[in-house]
Amino acid sequence: MKEAGYQVAAFPGDGTGPEVVREGEKILAALADGGPAPWHLTTYPGGGEYYLRTGREWDPEGAQAAREADAVLVGAVGWPGASLPNGDLAGRALVLGLREGLDLYANVRPCKLYAGVRHRISGSYREVWSPKNVDLVIVRENTEGLYTPARGRLRRADATEVAIDTRVITRKGSERVIHYAFEVARRRTRGAPEDGHRRLTCVDKSNVLEGCRFFRETFDRIGSEYPEVERDYAYVDAFTQWLVRNPEHYDVVVATNMMGDIITDLAAVLQGGMGFAAGGNIGTDHAMFEPVHGSAPKYAGKNQVNPFATFLAIEQMLRWLAERHQDGRLVSQADRLERAIAKVLAAGTARTYDQGGTVSTSGAGDRVAEAIRSEPT
Ligand code: IPM
Ligand code: MN
Repeated sequence: MKEAGYQVAAFPGDGTGPEVVREGEKILAALADGGPAPWHLTTYPGGGEYYLRTGREWDPEGAQAAREADAVLVGAVGWPGASLPNGDLAGRALVLGLREGLDLYANVRPCKLYAGVRHRISGSYREVWSPKNVDLVIVRENTEGLYTPARGRLRRADATEVAIDTRVITRKGSERVIHYAFEVARRRTRGAPEDGHRRLTCVDKSNVLEGCRFFRETFDRIGSEYPEVERDYAYVDAFTQWLVRNPEHYDVVVATNMMGDIITDLAAVLQGGMGFAAGGNIGTDHAMFEPVHGSAPKYAGKNQVNPFATFLAIEQMLRWLAERHQDGRLVSQADRLERAIAKVLAAGTARTYDQGGTVSTSGAGDRVAEAIRSEPT
């Protein structure tokens, strides 16, 4: 029989994925202390290493659970030597597969620098930006673009002569993600740190690419329905400079799939590194949440990696569930989690190696769990 509450299907996956998901379970338990949890988390196996052992990326039970769950949480996938017969990443079923299979069209990646978090550019730790300067959300199209499986190789006598990846930009794919991004911008009442303007920046390469011209036309058409949101434009190459030089200008950003993939890693540097980068993969009826950092096989089992991206992914998950089910309890839980995260980060008591600290993964989880318990509900 199913336990009561929201069903969360968790896939810890490969490498350091299980370590960060374990800390995620710890903080969910802390949030639920003293009362029945409004969620129930079940863990399923899967990933590249699982594939090497079993010949399957995940088991049918997990695949089914992902479809039926109220939300999905993924740790990380990718294991050395684990690839599918066609050369694809083994474990892709858990990430790219869920994005495609559950039609999770918007990849929402908040990028906020919390007080007390160090960021590192050119090798040394710095705190030169005040936290208010970095507070943006990048919305990445998540189902098409260069990730569309319209690709292949021309082989002649066993040698590859040509390899082609085709970028597909559709009206529907663009419209829905752009709508989503305008909605995010409309609701973020704080606006950009620079001037408080609600702003949506369309990042593209429309000076060269047809698909980008089409994407930008759609952006303008939909934007006319949102007079309260300022429309802003950047070619992706110039955007990479502006983002680093002037992050306070940005409020919400929308981009096609591959460009979004690249600029979100760049943005992660401004928020303290991949250890703080969380993403929500959002569809109409389903959503999957994940730390963006990947499986980091060389740190696997060492209890060293930064679990904060997972905590931030869980916060995002609680907010998504709260909104979808109009559940005020989850809003207060998410607020409580965010206050605890901010408090621990500001105190600098949970710095893992990537932050120049010596705190372990589980130590950082303990700090946040303690902070949750001392926060009023
Ligand atoms: C991400 C990752 C994935 C992607 C990989 C793991 C397939 O880089 O979520 O950003 O390319 O989308
Ligand atoms: Mn990526």
